[in-house]
Amino acid sequence: MSVWQVVFSGFDPADEGRREALCALGNGFFATRGAAPESTADDVHYPGTYVAGCYNRLRSEVAGREVEDESLVNAPNWLLLTFRIDGGPWFDLRRTEVLDHEQELDLERGILVRRVRFRDERGRTTGVVQRRFVHLGDPHLAGLDTALVAEDWSGRVTVRSGIDGRVTNSGVERYRALNGKHLTGHRAFESTPDTVVLHARTSQSGIHIAEATRTRVFADGAPLDAARTLLQQDELIAHDIDLDLTRRSEAQVEKVAALHTSRDAATTEPVSEVVDRVRCAPGFDELRRSHALAWARLHREFHCGLSTSEGAQRAVQLHLFHLLQTISPHTADLDVGVPARGLHGEAYRGHVFWDELFVLPTLTLRRPQLARSLLMYRYRRLDRARRAAAEAGLRGAMFPWQSGSNGREESQTVHLNPRSGRWLPDHTHLQRHVGIAIAHNVHHYYRATGDEEFLSEHGAEVLLEITRFFASLARYDRSRDRYVIRGVVGPDEYHTGYPGRAAQGIDNNAYTNVMTAWLCRTAAQVLRELPADRRHELVEQLDLRHGEVDRWKRIAQRMFVPFHGDGIISQFEGYERLAELDWEGYRRRYGDIQRLDRILEAEGDDPNRYQASKQADVLMLFYLLSAEELADVLGGLGYPMRPDTIPKNIEHYLQRTCHGSTLSAVVHAWVLARSRRQRALEFFDHALAADLHDTQRGTTREGVHLGAMAGSVDLLQRCFAGIEVTGGVLRLDPLWPTELGEMELSIQYRGQPLTITVTGRSATVRTAPGPTRTPITCTCGSRTVRLGPGETAWFSHEQRPWEEA
Ligand code: BGC
Repeated sequence: MSVWQVVFSGFDPADEGRREALCALGNGFFATRGAAPESTADDVHYPGTYVAGCYNRLRSEVAGREVEDESLVNAPNWLLLTFRIDGGPWFDLRRTEVLDHEQELDLERGILVRRVRFRDERGRTTGVVQRRFVHLGDPHLAGLDTALVAEDWSGRVTVRSGIDGRVTNSGVERYRALNGKHLTGHRAFESTPDTVVLHARTSQSGIHIAEATRTRVFADGAPLDAARTLLQQDELIAHDIDLDLTRRSEAQVEKVAALHTSRDAATTEPVSEVVDRVRCAPGFDELRRSHALAWARLHREFHCGLSTSEGAQRAVQLHLFHLLQTISPHTADLDVGVPARGLHGEAYRGHVFWDELFVLPTLTLRRPQLARSLLMYRYRRLDRARRAAAEAGLRGAMFPWQSGSNGREESQTVHLNPRSGRWLPDHTHLQRHVGIAIAHNVHHYYRATGDEEFLSEHGAEVLLEITRFFASLARYDRSRDRYVIRGVVGPDEYHTGYPGRAAQGIDNNAYTNVMTAWLCRTAAQVLRELPADRRHELVEQLDLRHGEVDRWKRIAQRMFVPFHGDGIISQFEGYERLAELDWEGYRRRYGDIQRLDRILEAEGDDPNRYQASKQADVLMLFYLLSAEELADVLGGLGYPMRPDTIPKNIEHYLQRTCHGSTLSAVVHAWVLARSRRQRALEFFDHALAADLHDTQRGTTREGVHLGAMAGSVDLLQRCFAGIEVTGGVLRLDPLWPTELGEMELSIQYRGQPLTITVTGRSATVRTAPGPTRTPITCTCGSRTVRLGPGETAWFSHEQRPWEEA
């Protein structure tokens, strides 16, 4: 099996949900789960099609209160294709004897192939091969091709092919008490004898979604003029097509689908667009070829090859594949953020959290315009964030923890613990640190790309307004002569308050506080670096006074950071006074304790009582800031960093974290990479396995974990290979784990395509040939090289005393 193939053998109803998410196909504009075309939502299958940024709000009543949720809408199912033989029952694998069943995801060409052989209740054997794609080149097209072989019978097959608009959002069991009917006003018609069209509208956001499918049948490659009956049932439209098959003959059913919404660029209205598109679209094979070409180009740009470890390579390839199906070159034309669970399922309702922190670096190094467009999603919601801050009595911009259509806070106010069956108040929206992630992304993007225009026109304003927010959140505590931040939640969501204290949130989350100090320093510096004219304009526009910037500088010197023990940075103030959890006891009793919060609540206990974290929190500091940067920030605050600060804190929190978020493995692998390679590789393996092996047991079916997927690729490039682009220099500091063989990857640096090869402490940089490119500067250790087009440089880095050989 090649590293480009992911194969699932046999029909396993219990595993179908995971396979559907892992086999989802998409192009950044929309994605469709790998559900069987004949299926409807039930306890095995869940067909889902999601259009990027297509959200709708609904009200529901749960636990005696009315709530409003915004969700990424499940659009009509264009896949619908089933058949029956001689008027018998419609095809259903559960009612046949399955002889062979295989789903093969071809990551190279972006094709999902399903091969089935079955024997029905009358002893007839039938073979079915289905291939599908969601076109990467033309984001409004998709295709499904079905070959039916009558192995040992002759008779009439009726194929039903159309669009099922009866779908709802019901893919996540714990949300099922909530209203999930987002589509309304269905209208369906036949536009030509081989094409059906379905149009619906989202009930609150009023987005029109239109789909058209054209179904053609062939025998021995020649078109068949088969008899068709139009079926229009409730919110479903289809053609029933009669085909006469003789023993060992094959019929081919080719379905080409188009999808448009009223939000699309260069369109009049979606119904005429889809009708037009399927009318002009070429056949399946021609579309498949142009689709594969579009993938080939993207694969070249995002090439990341490991010479050994086929398993790791396949997982990396799968991660890149799903990243690029969610955020594709088409994203640059859309107003969308990074949905935490891709366009692959309904967990977290398609919301955008802080996960772009883990996603952007992989894009910035190859297609910076995509990273920029994701930052623009935030910029367009800056005013909303300003209003949110003002409503909270604060200044600047308070970005929501969970964001969707217009940047309103979309976090749920109550959530269901499936273990206890109880609905509980949810305070995770207090994760103000999302703003720090946005500011960090702006800054990182600017440093990596040197995109001054972006910084000047958009980025600086976002960064300054976020700084202003955190500075106003910080209060001066006279007794300490330091600034403090109270009532927030850090990245570790298991601590949303103090046991016995009514007020929500915890005080002085070290991550938030240290990063606020970093932000205040960075904002002052960015302001200095802006062209003078623009600086004056912004200062005037934002009414930024000297006093305010001086306050930022003071915060950067006097922010409070809690410590305990011998140099341990406390996750938050009072963390060390919480009880220690009996980790061994819980592991013995429950085995998997990743969702410790649910276990404790079901026991009538509360995670807030324990020194037990869901995910990396303090350690995020070592993830985001280099040792030198952190020493600088802490030193500036008057907390000199000792040589053992990093290893000591890693050890301390490693023992108190249950990795209930897939992001945790990425961060832990990162922070351990330079000191404990074996442990780092174990975490890297966890990150690779998170979705492929559904290590959270049951969450992958609800959507992939995009942050961990992209984060694992970023680990290879920026952490293990030590690639850093900042200040106009490409720096390399490889400490590559030789267990992974050699890595070859492509990046684009300041418009130059580069191939970098890394192994151990050595690296090679090769620039693409090109007539007139400006040379780039590469540094590794004490050596700096200028590289013109078509040149190669070899580097070997010296070992540092604390690094593992
Ligand atoms: C994690 C968050 C993350 C969110 C979406 C949660 O489980 O705790 O850090 O942003 O999932 O991926």
